[in-house]
Amino acid sequence: MRKKLPKYFYNPVSYAGYFITTLSFGLIVFLTIIELLSPETKPYMGIITFLILPAAVLFGIALAIYGVIRERKRIRKGLSREHLLPIIDLNNPVHRKNIGRLTFGLIFFLLISAFVTYKAYEFTETDAFCGEVCHSVMMPEYSAYQYSPHARVGCVECHIGSGAEWYIRSKLSGAYQVYAVLFNKYTKPIETPIVNLRPAQGTCEQCHWPKHFLGEKRREFTYFLSDEENTKWTLNLLMRTGGGNSEAGPTSGIHWHMNISHKVMYYPIDRRRQEIPWVMAQDVDGNITVYKSTEVDFDDSQIDSTKLRRMDCIDCHNRPSHIYYNPSASVNLAMEEEWINPKLPFIKSVAVEALEKPYTDKPTAIDSIAIFVKDFYNSNYPDIAKTMKPAIDSSIAEIQKIYSRNYYPSMNVSWKEFPNNIGHLYSDGCFRCHDGNHVSDDGQVLSRDCNTCHIILAQKFEKKSLRLSLGGINYKHPVDIGGAWQDTNCSYCHGPE
Ligand code: HEC
Ligand code: HEC
Ligand code: HEC
Ligand code: HEC
Ligand code: HEC
Ligand code: HEC
Repeated sequence: MRKKLPKYFYNPVSYAGYFITTLSFGLIVFLTIIELLSPETKPYMGIITFLILPAAVLFGIALAIYGVIRERKRIRKGLSREHLLPIIDLNNPVHRKNIGRLTFGLIFFLLISAFVTYKAYEFTETDAFCGEVCHSVMMPEYSAYQYSPHARVGCVECHIGSGAEWYIRSKLSGAYQVYAVLFNKYTKPIETPIVNLRPAQGTCEQCHWPKHFLGEKRREFTYFLSDEENTKWTLNLLMRTGGGNSEAGPTSGIHWHMNISHKVMYYPIDRRRQEIPWVMAQDVDGNITVYKSTEVDFDDSQIDSTKLRRMDCIDCHNRPSHIYYNPSASVNLAMEEEWINPKLPFIKSVAVEALEKPYTDKPTAIDSIAIFVKDFYNSNYPDIAKTMKPAIDSSIAEIQKIYSRNYYPSMNVSWKEFPNNIGHLYSDGCFRCHDGNHVSDDGQVLSRDCNTCHIILAQKFEKKSLRLSLGGINYKHPVDIGGAWQDTNCSYCHGPE
């Protein structure tokens, strides 16, 4: 054999290095081809292809270099042997046998490693991997997701989408996330919003056609007050979702204004995009209107244009999949279904209070909720505590279920940390802009009128008459707070504090 390279390249340590490098590189090529052939885009796979295997390549190269340096020293010191490689004689039966074994072993090893790598690859693509391997970290997101309208939509469809660019980006951030979990470098709770989330065009809009006209949708809300009778009342809203474009049908409503004809840019001054002093709307003809908050002292010249945000689906639908419900909303629903018995005096208020206490961990919370509710009835309504024991017990079980699904003390997760932008009751949501205080230079106001986004069709309090009108009735706040609901944001009283 003629040696093209200086002879110190030919030594056992370097050979091992060459072998590792070639094998890892081969596997990278193999996995990349599989990835390109597979129909779906997949997420955390890159941990192997782009993190572990490249590390092995580097290790192999380092080993080879180390071998070379070591060998050079040995040659200088005259320690080098003349024959670096054993001489193989195929006429020698012992040599033949050993070569046979070696070849067989090598092929077996290559097959096994390809198989194992492929299995590992498949596993990193599953939702179980996203949700369970990083169990404690992403458990809240994963649990909430399983009960959401998107429970059958893979994590990757919203978090990565298709195409090479975001695929590579997700590999890089995925690698960082693994590091963050291993070295405990993540925040509790995980920060929201995700700063570099892919714009909705590449994710949501692959399934939901933005021009689709959604029309109007009637929604009925049932509430129970915090009084002894748990006074029930209902509200009927006709949501003016609308949408569409001039080719596909009528254009009106919430979706049309926000997304298709209009370009809305806004400037948030906090990380969570909850405080918005400056909004710009551009219509189809390019006319620009700027609305500024009269409540916040803010100077346009402070605007850092890299932080300007173009409104898309996620600015309203920021919790399409990981919804942590407000305790009052969850309890209202459970009472409406009679999973929590509405005949128990003060149960609404007791349930909400039990859910909202700051517990240190889930098991403690589950026990404390039972104790708290039982104690309340034992000391205030001893008769009911006896006669309605089964109702109390089943209600407790329901409250515990609500807690398990919506509170994750180990990650500091609850509705308070993850404001839902779709409404305006428990967080500012639409009222971040539509608070009645965002005014343009020529005096237009971003409307806060109660019949702009929904028509209040009907409202009914228990034992009172039904108020109803197709054109919209005047809202009546369930408890008398004077005119406060007309000029104060609802979340001032209903939000976290
Ligand atoms: C329907 C789309 C959708 C699906 C499916 C989805 N997510 Fe999300 N996820 C979002 C959106 C939207 C956000 C919030 C983004 C923002 O506000 O910047 C988010 C936020 C997150 C966050 C950041 C913390 C937070 O709660 O805001 C994590 C972690 C997360 N998702 C993990 C997952 C995991 C794990 C899965 C699969 C089990 C998954 N997501 C499935 C849309 C989705
Ligand atoms: C892989 C396809 C897919 C993607 C991606 C997707 N969705 Fe959906 N979405 C659906 C389907 C299917 C439904 C209907 C679920 C049902 O009614 O059972 C739905 C329902 C919805 C609903 C109605 C929920 C309800 O309460 O009825 C909203 C709002 C929504 N999606 C918003 C989003 C947003 C925002 C995103 C991007 C973050 C997104 N979707 C991404 C498939 C998708
Ligand atoms: C200005 C805020 C806003 C933006 C931006 C927005 N939506 Fe909506 N969307 C709403 C509201 C409000 C509703 C009605 C919610 C309800 O029924 O309570 C809604 C309803 C929906 C529904 C359910 C319709 C139904 O009748 O069940 C879907 C699906 C949806 N939006 C998808 C999207 C997608 C996709 C985008 C981005 C192209 C988007 N939305 C952008 C506010 C918005
Ligand atoms: C970032 C600020 C911002 C947020 C948040 C926002 N909007 Fe708007 N909205 C606007 C602007 C700006 C316009 C006015 C566009 C124009 O100049 O005509 C508008 C207009 C509207 C209109 C049309 C009003 C009319 O006069 O016909 C509706 C309906 C609407 N928004 C609903 C919503 C709903 C529902 C939400 C919450 C889910 C919401 N908006 C959240 C900025 C916002
Ligand atoms: C900028 C649009 C907008 C305006 C203005 C608006 N709302 Fe709403 N409102 C919404 C949306 C969107 C929802 C649906 C939230 C959801 O899907 O859960 C909603 C929901 C509600 C609910 C039910 C909340 C719940 O979750 O139980 C009540 C009550 C309500 N609105 C009252 C009012 C009153 C009173 C006014 C007038 C002061 C008003 N709204 C003005 C957009 C608006
Ligand atoms: C000054 C404080 C305050 C403001 C502002 C306020 N509310 Fe209320 N709201 C209350 C109180 C107090 C209750 C009674 C709570 C109870 O009995 O459990 C209540 C109850 C409600 C309920 C029933 C809640 C439930 O969980 O059963 C709804 C719905 C509601 N308010 C809507 C609104 C809307 C919409 C706005 C804004 C337009 C608003 N409120 C503004 C104080 C306020």
